[in-house]
Amino acid sequence: MEPLDEQLVEQIDQYIEGLFTPADASLAENLKDADAAGLPAINVSPNQGKLLYLLAKIAGAKRILEIGTLGGYSTTWLARALPASGVLITLELEAGHAQVARRSLDRAGLGPMVDIRVGPAKDSLWNLIRLGGEPFDLIFIDADKAGYVGYLELSLQLSHPGTIILADNVIRHGLVLADNSPDSADRGARAYNDAIAHHPRLESLILPIVRRRVDGLAISIVR
Ligand code: SAH
Ligand code: DHB
Ligand code: MG
Repeated sequence: MEPLDEQLVEQIDQYIEGLFTPADASLAENLKDADAAGLPAINVSPNQGKLLYLLAKIAGAKRILEIGTLGGYSTTWLARALPASGVLITLELEAGHAQVARRSLDRAGLGPMVDIRVGPAKDSLWNLIRLGGEPFDLIFIDADKAGYVGYLELSLQLSHPGTIILADNVIRHGLVLADNSPDSADRGARAYNDAIAHHPRLESLILPIVRRRVDGLAISIVR
């Protein structure tokens, strides 16, 4: 088998970025602040941010839930897809990450539509379920991979027929192909893929996502 030409793959990603994801002052400032605050650079790529934005627009999403805020990079893309009356709730374990996101979203003028909840996502999801608010139109799962299957089940309780459920990093450069990885993140992503493949309430596919390496975005729609 030919090895993947990582340089070519990166050049293609940059070519697409040059066409459809032009440099953007708020997003650049967001990444600069996240870096200065010592956050890991594990945000989605510009092209994947654009994909999240497009999917939210295609879905006509008015209420978005994100699990895993980090510094608010993907949050910014998703919030930009909302109408003025839209709402985005984003869940983050680390107060320091949430603080970077808060400042950046406020500065970008997106503050009023974004509610950041600090704490373990599982607890925040149960609180949302208990309060019984309106369901979400789009849910983006991107926190700890070992928690993905649990987040899926809780997300379904916050969904309506037609809700789009997305999950990042479900291919992990192919590490999910093995069914016995020693890494709990690989096992968590693989378990998520099996769960959506067989779930009676979901229709799904994984879209491979390339940047420097191959990863994937799981896309599901609730029946
Ligand atoms: N969506 C972001 C990247 C998220 S990185 C973007 O693309 O810009 C994953 C985030 O999940 C990290 O900030 C991490 O602190 C958070 N996280 C990890 N475990 C968590 C948990 N149990 N509950 C909530 N957030 C968690
Ligand atoms: C990691 C997490 C992510 O959400 C991501 O997109 C890339 C890497 C990580 O935990 O290493
Ligand atoms: Mg991710």
